[in-house]
Amino acid sequence: MSAPRNPRIDSERLWGDIMALGELTEPDIPYTRRSFSPMFLKGREWLSQRFADAGMAVRLDAGGNLIGRLPAADPALGTIMIGSHSDSVPSGGRFDGIAGVAAAIEVVRAFRDAGHLMNHPVEVVDFLAEEPSEFGLSCVGSRAMAGRLLDDMLAYKNAAGEALGSAIDRVGGDVANIAQARRGDIASFLELHIEQGRVLEDTHVDLGIVSAIASVTRVEIQFEGRADHAGTTPMHLRRDAGVAAATTISFVAAEAERRAAMGRGHFVATTGVVTVSPNAANVIPANARLIIDIRAEDDDVLEGFLESLDAQTLAIAQAASVGRSGWKIVSRTRPAHCDPQLRELLGQSAQSLGYSVLDMASGAGHDAAFISMIAPSGMVFVPCREGRSHTPEEWVAPEALAAGAATLLETIIRLDTRPAPANRTSTQGARQ
Ligand code: GLV
Ligand code: MN
Ligand code: MN
Repeated sequence: MSAPRNPRIDSERLWGDIMALGELTEPDIPYTRRSFSPMFLKGREWLSQRFADAGMAVRLDAGGNLIGRLPAADPALGTIMIGSHSDSVPSGGRFDGIAGVAAAIEVVRAFRDAGHLMNHPVEVVDFLAEEPSEFGLSCVGSRAMAGRLLDDMLAYKNAAGEALGSAIDRVGGDVANIAQARRGDIASFLELHIEQGRVLEDTHVDLGIVSAIASVTRVEIQFEGRADHAGTTPMHLRRDAGVAAATTISFVAAEAERRAAMGRGHFVATTGVVTVSPNAANVIPANARLIIDIRAEDDDVLEGFLESLDAQTLAIAQAASVGRSGWKIVSRTRPAHCDPQLRELLGQSAQSLGYSVLDMASGAGHDAAFISMIAPSGMVFVPCREGRSHTPEEWVAPEALAAGAATLLETIIRLDTRPAPANRTSTQGARQ
């Protein structure tokens, strides 16, 4: 009988998977694999095969999450879950989310190749629709797994009039039994992700250990003015919804800058969706719709921002002689805190492999924020070139990715063999 080998990451195999998945993109707008689209389903078909090839039993849960499960020596122990998401923003990168799913598969293959039987069941997950979907909601699958996908959210509609609930069913979920997606058996959740910022690159540190994930709040605002002739209507008689939108965009940027300077953690705000109608060169905009995305590490700073945005947009509407016809908080999370023991274990594992680490907060949202509501959760960040993300230019060095994956592997081995705490399934961290 041959001696047992230590499980190890095959960096080339991991890299090959990421490049292969990158090929599954809308051809004209690389790299695009929007959740619920035929291309997304193609990606999932490819992933399911990879899960199965790695020796996992593959299933979709009621929330549309793709899950692979590895048999365990002691199936009664809590599950160690690893993964991220395979959907992308329009014209996004090849690593955001996918790196975490591919690294999780590679960890499982490392166990298989070494003939290493885990004590705990290990599951690899590809969460459904982490990016803001065409239904206006992000983290759809992880919300379902945390029991936070509410009925009113399931009724959100896309431009074609399809409800989110129907779309989840269409991709293999089971909305009638959505409560079954909620998990109470996860002992630990770990997510590898690219940093999507430039702190690690600038400080020359190998890996980031995430302390907290900033909250994500999205507010939809609508202004209602009046369409009139752009050539004949005197300036003082206009009711231009576009002017109110533009003033709001400026206010959001200035107010966010002011609050970021308060020194109470990460704070940013972006007006990422702006639509005016009728959107014609010679017509005064009658309507304007904005979606503002706000990230905050401190809840009170966020509350203050929302209050001033509310008051200020009413004043802006009045000054532009339009109505503020809509104000809706489309989605909202709370800042999530990563589990202190998992943070420590991730840091120790990285350092034992010779990698330097930095504790850092995440400005980007992640599925881990929702899973932290039901299980101890931790994240490891891999540096990405110039911090670029949500763009085709997103790039990660293969060695950096391998370092992150090796750290994930080492952490899971330590979790699997440590005495009692791996069985904790306590609810902690973020709430909603
Ligand atoms: C996820 O990509 C986010 O918007 O933070
Ligand atoms: Mn993203
Ligand atoms: Mn992501």
